[in-house]
Formats: sequence, C-alpha cells, structure tokens
Amino acid sequence: MAFVILFLLRFILTTAKAQPRNSIIGPGSSLSPNNNSYWLSESGQFAFGFYPYGNGFSVGIWFEKIQQKTVVWTANRDGPPFSKDVTLLLSTEGSLLVQSKQGQMINIAIASQLASSASMLNSGNFVLFSSNSEILWQSFDTPTDTILPGQRLVVPNKLVSSVSETNHASGKFLIIMQGDGNLVQYPVEAVETETFYWNTGTYNAGAGVTLNLDSNGLLYLLNATGFNIKIIPDKSIVLGKPIYRATIDADGIFRLYSHSSNQSGNWSIEWSSSDNKCDPTGLCGVNSYCTLMNGDPECQCPSRFDFINQGQKELGCQKNYSIDACSVKSEQTLDFYELIGLSWKGDSYLSLSSIAKNSCRDECFRDCYCEAAIYENQLCKLLKLPLRFGRRELSSQAITFLKIGAGPAGGRKRKHRKLRLDILITSIAMAGMTLTFLVLVAVGALKYRSHVREYERILNVVNNRVAEDVTLRSFTFDELKDATNNFVDEIGKGAYGTVFRGVISNGKRIVAIKRLEKVVAEGERDFRNEMKAIGKTHHKNLVQLLGYCHDGTNRLLVYEYMKNGSLADFLFRSNLKINWEGRIAIILNIARGIFYLHEECESQIIHCDIKPENILMDDKGYAKIADFGLAKLLMPNQTKTYTGIRGTRGYVAPEWHQNLPITVKADVYSFGIMLFEIICCRRSVEADVPENEAVLAHWVYDCFKADELEKLVQNEEVEKSKLERMVKVGLWCTQDEPSSRPTMKKVILMLEGTVNIPEPPLLSSFVSSP
Ligand SMILES: *[C@@H]1O[C@H](CO)[C@@H](O)[C@H](O)[C@H]1NC(C)=O
Ligand SMILES: *[C@@H]1O[C@H](CO)[C@@H](O)[C@H](O)[C@H]1NC(C)=O
Ligand SMILES: *[C@@H]1O[C@H](CO)[C@@H](O)[C@H](O)[C@H]1NC(C)=O
Ligand SMILES: *[C@@H]1O[C@H](CO)[C@@H](O)[C@H](O)[C@H]1NC(C)=O
Ligand SMILES: *[C@@H]1O[C@H](CO)[C@@H](O)[C@H](O)[C@H]1NC(C)=O
Repeated sequence: MAFVILFLLRFILTTAKAQPRNSIIGPGSSLSPNNNSYWLSESGQFAFGFYPYGNGFSVGIWFEKIQQKTVVWTANRDGPPFSKDVTLLLSTEGSLLVQSKQGQMINIAIASQLASSASMLNSGNFVLFSSNSEILWQSFDTPTDTILPGQRLVVPNKLVSSVSETNHASGKFLIIMQGDGNLVQYPVEAVETETFYWNTGTYNAGAGVTLNLDSNGLLYLLNATGFNIKIIPDKSIVLGKPIYRATIDADGIFRLYSHSSNQSGNWSIEWSSSDNKCDPTGLCGVNSYCTLMNGDPECQCPSRFDFINQGQKELGCQKNYSIDACSVKSEQTLDFYELIGLSWKGDSYLSLSSIAKNSCRDECFRDCYCEAAIYENQLCKLLKLPLRFGRRELSSQAITFLKIGAGPAGGRKRKHRKLRLDILITSIAMAGMTLTFLVLVAVGALKYRSHVREYERILNVVNNRVAEDVTLRSFTFDELKDATNNFVDEIGKGAYGTVFRGVISNGKRIVAIKRLEKVVAEGERDFRNEMKAIGKTHHKNLVQLLGYCHDGTNRLLVYEYMKNGSLADFLFRSNLKINWEGRIAIILNIARGIFYLHEECESQIIHCDIKPENILMDDKGYAKIADFGLAKLLMPNQTKTYTGIRGTRGYVAPEWHQNLPITVKADVYSFGIMLFEIICCRRSVEADVPENEAVLAHWVYDCFKADELEKLVQNEEVEKSKLERMVKVGLWCTQDEPSSRPTMKKVILMLEGTVNIPEPPLLSSFVSSP
C-alpha cells in the first residue's frame, strides 16, 4: 500500500514538474536548478536538465524512470558546478546556454547554425533542430562515458571514464574508436601502443569502423560498408532486457549494463571488457603497483617507497631514500632491492636480451644512471625512475631490481641482513594469506640461504669492477709508453689520432690507447673536465673510457679493447657479412647509444662523426660507439657554429656546409646514412656501380618511391615490412631540414615498431642534386 502511494505521489510530482511530454522545446524555453525542472522525453525515460552535483548543479541527461541516479551525458563535464541561480535557456536567437545572474553565459551546445527548436528524444539523444527540422547538434555526437542503444561511436571519438560514480569530470581511462578499425582502451595520460589494456583486435578492418549498441543489447562493430565485423562480448549473453547502456566506468573497465526497468531494481552487468580490476593500465600512480585484495584493486608501494599522499594512494609512491649513483662517494656502496612478480610498462632506455639474471643486475650497477632493472625471460631492461603502470602478476617470474644506497661500508653487513628480511616480508604480504603462503615460506627459507651467499659474492665482484671503471685513472706518459711497448702495435688511425694496443694492470688487461693529435682544449683543466664527462658515460653501447694521460704536450686516452674491430670491417668486407637480423640489432644498439649521448648523460654529447669506422664490435656481438666526446676537444664551443667542417664526407649533414649551428640532429643525419649502409652492406658513396646507385641515399629513395626495396638487399631473405620500416626511418633521419629529422628517442620507437612511421616527404636535395 505504502509503495503504491509513494509511486502515485512520485508520478504526480513528476508530471507537475515536467514540461509537456510531446517535447518540442521552443525558443525562449528555460530551466532552473531552483525549481528542479527538466525536459522529459516523450516516453518519460530520459530527462535533460539540471541535476545536483558537488556543491551546485550540472546539466546532463539521465534515466528518469530508474531510481538509481544514472547520468548518461554531462555538458561541460570538466567545468565547475553551476550555482543555484543560473538559468538554462534555449535563447530566442537559437543557442542553448546557461546564463548566470551576473550575465555570464556558457554554451551547452555549439551548433553550426542557430537552432529553432530542441528535443529530448526517446533514445536519450538531446537534439537541436534547424527551422527545416535538420539536426544541427546532438548529444549522441559528443558522448562522455556512455553510449545508449542507437548511438554509435565513430572514428576518432572516444568515451572517457568519469572520476568516480558521483564525480562526472573526465577520469583516467578512455576507449577510442581508432582509424585502423580497432577499438582500444588506454590510460588517458599515455595513449601509446604499449599502454593499451584492452582491444577488439580489429586493427585490419579498415577506416570508418563504428561501435554500435542496439536495443537488444547487442554491442558490435560495423565496418565502413556496414558489415558486422565483430560482436564484442566474448561469451554469449542473455539478450532481450528492456534497457541497456555501455559505459566505461571510473575503474577503467568498459561494461554493458542492462536494467529490468523495474524502478527499484539495480543495473546488472551483462559483460565487462576485463575480469581483473587491475587490468586498466595506470590505475596506480608512479612507482606503485596494483594488486587484488578480495577482487578489488589496491595500490601498493614497494619497500623503501612511501605513498606520495597517504590519503590518495592512487597518486603513487616516492622513494624514501636518496642516492646519486653518479657521484657516489668512495665510502658509500650501492645495493639492490629485489621484488618478484611485478610487471611495469613504459620506457626502458636499454634492453639486453639473452642475459643472465645476475648480469642484468650488474649492468644496472655499472650504469650510474640506471635506477631500476626488470628481468624476465632472459631479457633485461634498464630504467630510470619513476616506474610506471605497475601491477602484481601472480604467474609472473619477473624480477624488479631497485638500486639503493647501502650506506657507509662499516654498516654494510647489518644493512644486508635487514634487506633480505624486507624481501621476505614483502613476498609474504604479496602472496596473501592462503596455503601458498606456507609453501612460499618453506621454499623461501631454502632459497634465502643460497641467495645470501650468492648475493654477497656478486656484490664483491661488482664493487671491484666499479673501483676500476667509475674512477678514471690518470696515467703518466711513460706508463703508457711501457703499456704499448713504445707504441709499436698500431691497430687503427682515426680523425683524432692513432690507436695502439696496450696492456695495463700488470699485464692483466688489454686496452686500446689513443694518442690524440690536434687537440685545441686549452690547459689541463679543460682536458680533465672533458675526460671526466666522457668517463661518466656508462652504456652498453658505448666504448668505455678507462683512463687518460695529460703529460706535457701528450694527450692519450685509454679505452677498453674491442678485439673484433669496427663495423666497417663487417659491412664492407664480403667474408665477414652479418645476417639481416644481426644488422637490425646493430642498428638498434647504435641508436640507443646515440640516444644516451644526446639525452641520458649528464651533459649532452654530440658525436659529430657517426660512421661505421667509429662503431666497434665487442666479443658478444654488441655494437659500441667510439670516439664520442672528442669533437669538443677539438672545438671549444660545441653548441655554437663550427668554423671548419668536422665529420667525414658522405656522412655530414647539410647544415655543416651552410655554417648553421650544429645540434644533435647532425648525428641523426649521419645515423640515417649509416643505417642505409648497414641495410645494404655497402658504402654511402661508391664509384664502380651503375650511376643511379652511386649515392646510396638517393638510390634508396628511388627504390622506396618505386616500391622496389628488395633491390637493396639482393640475395637475402628479409621481412618486407621490417625492411620498409628501416628505410622509412633512414629517410626521415636524412631530411635536409634538421627540425624535420626525428629525435633519437623517436628513432628508437620507430625502429622497434612501437609508433607508426609517417610517409617520408620528398627530399628536396635529391631532386635538385645533379
Ligand atoms: C522553472 O524556472 C524557470 C526559470 O526561472 C522558468 O522559466 C520555468 O517556467 C520554471 N518551471 C516550472 C515548472 O516552474
Ligand atoms: C567490410 O567487411 C566485408 C566483409 O568482411 C568486406 O567484404 C568489405 O570489403 C568490408 N568493407 C570495408 C570498407 O573494408
Ligand atoms: C522489482 O524488483 C524487486 C527486486 O528484484 C522485486 O522484489 C519487486 O517485486 C519488483 N517489482 C516489480 C513491480 O516487478
Ligand atoms: C541494489 O544495489 C544496492 C547498493 O548496491 C543494494 O543495497 C541493493 O540490495 C540492490 N538491490 C537489488 C534488488 O539487488
Ligand atoms: C623508509 O621506509 C622503510 C620501510 O620501507 C622504513 O623502515 C624507513 O624508516 C624509511 N626511512 C625513512 C627515512 O623514512
């Protein structure tokens, strides 16, 4: 009885407040939060008007017949709430706006021309009509987080989640209808290939695919010619409920909801894009990871990290220690903290494959810029903080190494034990209070013992190596004269001087000693500073400087010895050819090395002489860049205009000839030329070939234009798409205009296939050149 009365009362109230149901809304009509008025659809299901929001009101569309307030669209969702005394008006001039008492006006709908009427349609679409009943604007075209039956999401529109169920401002996640035909979910902060967390896999469906929902609750994709190419729910669902909507919820999951239209009932979930609430990338902030607690996601910090804001854990974590590994004092040592079973996404500046776990830690140790390493399946990724997009993966064996300072040497032992305990505690916390817990403790205890021993051994090894590598050794001339047996064993001659083979450390270490000629750096301090800058670079793909000599007029550099010679030997001597995969790996190695010089090391280094002769091969087949940092010794101010042309003919960028400032983009150019050489295994300029092939870059371009890339790699099986990718990158790198060339970071992403490569433009110099 009470229910009926309530129902009647509600019905009466509703009709009293509502505007005429056959709702063509004419100019001059208005609504106000004051009298709780709204415009209803003819069916009475949808309402358009003010609803309470925050400490004021929002304008939106909601289900009026369903008790649980369900807003499906919000105008100006990121604007502040409206105050009580505003008016929503379809003005006599034909615009839909909110007017404040002070006369301020905010447009709710921007139409191409002025409207003569509006209507809340039964579909939930609010529309503005022109005088001849054309639709000028519709809410269906500017969705927020929901689509309704009959509404379609077209390229490149997206739904963006709300901050929370009650705060309808833009949240953290989106689902976008991409031009390639794929429907994809990303975090708003990083719409990048590697951060997507769900997709329909329809990336070959062509342009113009749309996402649709019909009145039977079918959620599907249509291609441009109207074919149903995919029904999205991956399992059959019961259809035929009266009411549907599809919403990307605040937690990042895209859900199809149904409702029985029984007013007091709740929405039921018919389908979700994901069953694991930690799936949405970016649910937890920097340095933190998502873990499920009774099915609900929770953000946690690794040990030694604290929440940035305890009250808002989703903001992420910050480390509660500080080390500057690049200026570690001698009494301080570095240590690692190790976490198992976490995955992170995002940029590693270097990844090494086929490597053992301990070597991975070593690599991070050796590189003072490395703050964390992730090791999984013999792949080692070196990263700088912050770590991003972390989550706990129960099945994952990935190991996260975090570099920390272990304090003064005296306290090291004690610290050690504490650390191991930390790890054990974390593992327990992460394992959850289940049976696996007991198993883990048992296994952990066993592992723990052997671990500690192994760990200490490694630490000693790395510490010794660091003593040798981080502090540059200064040699006297006589020492190096002895080391090289009076400079007899010449192994190379470069732009900066002659290189000799030598032996240091009482015959234990073979080194390459470069005797510099033509150095202009004034005085000892300049030279020493340059040496320090070079000595501070630590990267897998750079030849390591071990020491130097500044003795009278003598300037010598001592480098690690690379017994396999230079890349030029491999490329241009037919008996040493490297296969296609190997060459691709070398290109990436070099790109990473240059990227490090340009962007990762303390003071930017422009190489100025990138060419195969300056790429050395180590015994594991890694390519390492040599001779970096030396250009500066020969020219005092590297960022200004150079007076004479450095670098090597065939590789130098056009700006060298034009007396323009030399930037990192000059290296990008040389890299591009060298990339062509590596692909084709021939020099950039060759005389004894047909005339149109003499200049490699021109020939590559011609082949690219004619779609005949296979000519470049005759007698070799290569993947066409990969070859095309490489060539496109090279063409971009060798653009005349320095600003058109990509940065090395972009180059790496393009080489890896992480980003799309636009078609390279016509190269002007190639057109005009003889
Ligand atoms: C609500 O207030 C607006 C603006 O003051 C007015 O135009 C409208 O007629 C009112 N509606 C009702 C149902 O009272
Ligand atoms: C749409 O799909 C159909 C069937 O797969 C196909 O024949 C048609 O070419 C597609 N249309 C477009 C524009 O890709
Ligand atoms: C509405 O749903 C509730 C719960 O499902 C049920 O108890 C009630 O009888 C339903 N009312 C009508 C009118 O169907
Ligand atoms: C609807 O949801 C509310 C809150 O989640 C819950 O308390 C209530 O029991 C649900 N009603 C039905 C009929 O499931
Ligand atoms: C850092 O966090 C650890 C726990 O993870 C705690 O024991 C230590 O006291 C913290 N140090 C500082 C300086 O807050």
